[in-house]
Amino acid sequence: MGHELFIQGNDFANAGMVSTKVKSTLKKIGFDPKLVRRVAISTYEGEMNVVMHAESAKVRLSVTPRLIEVVIADEGKGIPDVEQAMQEGFTTATEEMRAMGFGSGMGLPNIKKNSDQLEIRSEVGKGTTLVMRFFI
Ligand SMILES: Nc1ncnc2c1ncn2[C@@H]1O[C@H](COP(=O)(O)OP(=O)(O)OP(=O)(O)O)[C@@H](O)[C@H]1O
Ligand SMILES: [Mg+2]
Repeated sequence: MGHELFIQGNDFANAGMVSTKVKSTLKKIGFDPKLVRRVAISTYEGEMNVVMHAESAKVRLSVTPRLIEVVIADEGKGIPDVEQAMQEGFTTATEEMRAMGFGSGMGLPNIKKNSDQLEIRSEVGKGTTLVMRFFI
């Protein structure tokens, strides 16, 4: 099965809706709550990165008998150095975002920790695609 969702950049009011939707879909299917939690955390961090650092994104949730896959493909400024962005504590978040409690530079490391496989493709000036896989 597959699901298409959308994230709007800078839309802090609706931030978290996509990961909530993913979580409830997986819960309804009846997956192990620990697995659902890992997917929800990873999706939330990816979603917040679009809200904070990109313009908009399409999200695709696919579920097969062996795999849950969440793809977040955004249009935006892209990540110049993915290896650096993956480091704990690295952030380009603004003062404003930090005041809202974001910008610890822990989102991508958190996704890495919670997913079984993470692929990041990014092109500066175009956008970033995250492929997060969870084995069932
Ligand atoms: N989708 C994206 N588009 C552009 N840049 C991104 C994107 N995702 C991450 N980045 C860059 O990578 C950095 C690190 O991301 P990460 O999620 O680890 O931390 P953060 O978003 O800055 O803070 P936190 O996630 O802890 O609130 C960001 O500050 C930003 O520079
Ligand atoms: Mg983040």
